[in-house]
Amino acid sequence: MTPAKANYDEDKIPQYELPDPLIAANGELVTNPAAWDKKRRPEILQLFKTHVYGQMPGPLPDMRYSITEEGEALEGRARRRQIRVHFSADGPYMDLLLYLPAAAPGPVPVFLGLNFFGNHTIEPDPAIVLSTQWMRPEAENGIVDNRATNQSRGCLTQRWPITNILARGYGLATAYYGDLDPDFDDGYQNGIHPLFYKKNQDHPAADEWGAIGAWAWGLSRAMDYLQTDADIDPDRVAVLGLSRLGKTALWAGACDQRFALVISNESGCGGAALSRRRYGETVAHINQAFPHWFCDNFRQYNHHENDLPLDQHMLLGLIAPRPLYVASALEDRSCDPRGEFLAALAANPVYQLLGFDGLPTDQFPGVDQPVMDQIGYHIRSGGHDLTEYDWAQYLDFADRHLSTP
Ligand code: GCU
Repeated sequence: MTPAKANYDEDKIPQYELPDPLIAANGELVTNPAAWDKKRRPEILQLFKTHVYGQMPGPLPDMRYSITEEGEALEGRARRRQIRVHFSADGPYMDLLLYLPAAAPGPVPVFLGLNFFGNHTIEPDPAIVLSTQWMRPEAENGIVDNRATNQSRGCLTQRWPITNILARGYGLATAYYGDLDPDFDDGYQNGIHPLFYKKNQDHPAADEWGAIGAWAWGLSRAMDYLQTDADIDPDRVAVLGLSRLGKTALWAGACDQRFALVISNESGCGGAALSRRRYGETVAHINQAFPHWFCDNFRQYNHHENDLPLDQHMLLGLIAPRPLYVASALEDRSCDPRGEFLAALAANPVYQLLGFDGLPTDQFPGVDQPVMDQIGYHIRSGGHDLTEYDWAQYLDFADRHLSTP
């Protein structure tokens, strides 16, 4: 069935009821943190694995790291380190780029996020390894025949205000998402999926991971490395991402509780937005346009969102009690800003059970008026992007929650 045109009319939102994150599968109400941790949280995590993103494997036994390059950067204000994370002896690898403030008194907190077009796009620094991986064909980003060229260098600096990040005392770590799984539907033959196939398997099972799962797995592997780097405080790593990589950051934060703070920048459908609202992009739209992102089971919910035993507020609840920031943009209607806000609000009961205030208001805030407690939210003016304004809020939010070791 071809999905209907996207709805952008609040009056046409279907009637829906959200599953209660605090009612366990056996119908019992979860009334204390221990019951959440031991029973309900694992139950919800398993629901997302089975129905949405697929199972999440652990690290591979043959993983190793090699430092490929190290030097001074940004006129002496930063130290740059490039690390190749080898997933197997001669198989795929992920190149991690790290910028650290030059004058740090001790191990620093770090923002970690995947990027869309290679590490060399975030800064016009000729020492950054130019990615040789498959890329989406965007001529304006200097991609020719699905590969980066020197013209790609620094083409996305506006999304990564490194100077501001470093000046506030944070490091930045990033990797190209295509190192984990090139973002096209090839039946999972490239990227890391084949490393996990059992004998005679050539495709993930219906409840096994798609591309978002693989990208999120990569964030955890980056975290594995960060834990070994003495310049970094592994207890203060914030994970963030824009759009499909925002969905990825949320899923990584849900699966891996080592991430101390989680930021969803306009993650929309399959990210922070409530599926049941069917506003903007829907489950059917996303599964049709990107059949390789979620597990195959997720397709059962095309046009049947009410049958999902979960909704995305429960994904946000899996981040609790850790600080969570959800950001939308006014013109990014396809991501359903209000649905993202409502999901964050519906995660509040989990935060409250665990002893924190989640979102400080139940009123949808005005444009460019961030609200912050243990959950932060803003709707920024402008369109779908990761901007300096977004970063300014994330830095304030991180200062609030990660400033002391
Ligand atoms: C498409 C897709 C969105 C996704 C976005 C992006 O627009 O429909 O779900 O978030 O790409 O990743 O930029």
